[in-house]
Amino acid sequence: MDKYGNIRRPVRCLFLLAMVAKSHAAVIDIKTKGATGDGNTDDGPAILAAWKEACEGASPSSVLIPPGTYMALSIVLAGPCKGPIEMQATGATVKAPPELAKFKTDTWISIQNLNMFTMTGGTFDGQGQQTWKSTKCHDSQMTCEIPVNFRLSHVKNSLFKDFTSANSKNFHIALWACDNCNFVNVTINAPENSVNTDGIHIARLNGLNITNSNIMTGDDCISFGDGSKNVYIEKVTCGPGHGISIGSLGKFPNEEPVQGIWIKNCTITGTTNGVRIKSWPASHPGIASDIHFEDIVMNKVGNPILIDQEYCPHDACKKSTPSKVKLSNVSFRKIRGTSTTKVAMKLACSAEAPCDNVEVADINLKVHGGGPASSKCSNVKPKVTGENVPQICPGGTY
Ligand SMILES: *[C@@H]1O[C@H](CO)[C@@H](O)[C@H](O)[C@H]1NC(C)=O
Ligand SMILES: *[C@@H]1O[C@H](CO)[C@@H](O)[C@H](O)[C@H]1NC(C)=O
Ligand SMILES: *[C@@H]1O[C@H](CO)[C@@H](O)[C@H](O)[C@H]1NC(C)=O
Ligand SMILES: *[C@@H]1O[C@H](CO)[C@@H](O)[C@H](O)[C@H]1NC(C)=O
Repeated sequence: MDKYGNIRRPVRCLFLLAMVAKSHAAVIDIKTKGATGDGNTDDGPAILAAWKEACEGASPSSVLIPPGTYMALSIVLAGPCKGPIEMQATGATVKAPPELAKFKTDTWISIQNLNMFTMTGGTFDGQGQQTWKSTKCHDSQMTCEIPVNFRLSHVKNSLFKDFTSANSKNFHIALWACDNCNFVNVTINAPENSVNTDGIHIARLNGLNITNSNIMTGDDCISFGDGSKNVYIEKVTCGPGHGISIGSLGKFPNEEPVQGIWIKNCTITGTTNGVRIKSWPASHPGIASDIHFEDIVMNKVGNPILIDQEYCPHDACKKSTPSKVKLSNVSFRKIRGTSTTKVAMKLACSAEAPCDNVEVADINLKVHGGGPASSKCSNVKPKVTGENVPQICPGGTY
């Protein structure tokens, strides 16, 4: 190919188009709205004032958080806006106050009712260290009032890229009813001992891609609640934390199906679980289908492959009554690496709703530090192909 002809011309055209689009975009710098950037004063009102102007004003428009360190209490970035809107925070660090008492809601940064929103750059530090030490909500099943870093609801056709969520007091990012969004090059960072800090929690949405991202946290890397549909996770690294988890499902009546989940080309390191699907025993009925795990490297992972339909933490349920959540069309392919538990693969399906059409292919898992790994299956007859170490369900299903 002629590198000065065919390739360059279209690129230049796109660049010009981008310039034209840019020159029409209104950019509202939060400093013009009174942000101090001293790291102590609440700059939330300035962010909100810039947001309001951008949202109501000329479209497309952009809120600029220039490089610097800011502190902000809870903020709500709400639409609908006149047109596409962006928040650009490259080089900026925004911190939440460490004190839980300064929050009146369960959210630090709430983003809601938007179409074609773009969020670029920035580090958003929830400063959760004090909160993880307190015992509030840790073992209860009650609604927790500890703020998540980001709560996104009814945000559609939007892009979130090149930003960091750090040290959230609770989940880092919780998505609800957000269709057709993309997360690219996102970093999530909290220590292994941080409490309930799921990286990205997904529920009741259709269409989501998470790619080229790096999630280090104290709880699930990515967790899926009911109604997660058409979600593609690719080139994501997880660890430390609890791995990638679908469920727990079946706890509540009328849960929506989980359908169409692809987890591909990911690396999971030093987590307590790898990829798992879990449902409660004695559950309400539910459906999870079309779930595929492929090309996954496990490094020193506990329970690398796990279907657990007897999920019952703190023994808070009737384990003897089987789950009514039906799993079908699930595949585990090309999953390789090391396990810190002897049972590297456990498929514990429900006696009442056995798993259907589970495929297992090209598994190569060894116990970290030596010795053979094993696999266990119940209430499932997986279709096994390729070469597998350990042997899959050697005693058949029981
Ligand atoms: C990914 O995001 C970081 C900021 O977190 C940025 O420095 C880097 O350039 C981004 N990478 C790509 C490929 O855009
Ligand atoms: C996510 O990726 C899949 C497969 O590459 C693609 O079909 C789908 O349209 C993408 N979804 C979004 C929301 O970009
Ligand atoms: C992911 O894909 C890239 C490029 O296709 C490849 O180099 C890498 O080894 C893959 N990683 C895993 C974990 O399969
Ligand atoms: C599972 O896959 C089969 C064959 O592709 C399909 O007919 C069936 O509807 C799927 N089951 C569910 C629950 O989606």
